[in-house]
Amino acid sequence: MKNKPSLIEFKKIGSSSLGFISVAEFESQVPFPINRVYWTYFTPNEIQRGFHAHKELCQVIVAVSGNIKLTVVNQNEEKELFILDTPSIGLYIPKMYWREISFSHNAVLLCLASEVYNENDYIRDYKTFLKFKND
Ligand code: TYD
Repeated sequence: MKNKPSLIEFKKIGSSSLGFISVAEFESQVPFPINRVYWTYFTPNEIQRGFHAHKELCQVIVAVSGNIKLTVVNQNEEKELFILDTPSIGLYIPKMYWREISFSHNAVLLCLASEVYNENDYIRDYKTFLKFKND
């Protein structure tokens, strides 16, 4: 699996006159088996979420509605900003990336996750994240 965040372009099946369907399948589009799906919505404009990294979890994030700005940071404090503003694009985030996320009010963030929820997989303190060594 790649160890850098990267955009995934999902196929758009359909047409602008009929509407579209996009599909995320393990292996052909998503590089890990999906064990959990969650979505967030109604996040006020002025609120930023995230502020954590994951020790093992990988994710693909899609703005199925609205737009989402996602800043990802690695342990060398190299930052990258991704703007998700179309439902046919996903962002793959490997483990061990700090993320900070802001949303348009109508944004729905869909997350495909490699693991079920486990609070012990979170690193919620930035300094701990920078120092953390994953064996
Ligand atoms: P968190 O992952 O911190 O969300 P964000 O980074 O978007 O702010 O989760 C927020 C809360 O929701 C936290 O109390 C844990 C809970 N939660 C679950 O119970 N299950 C889940 O699958 C997720 C993603 C969160």
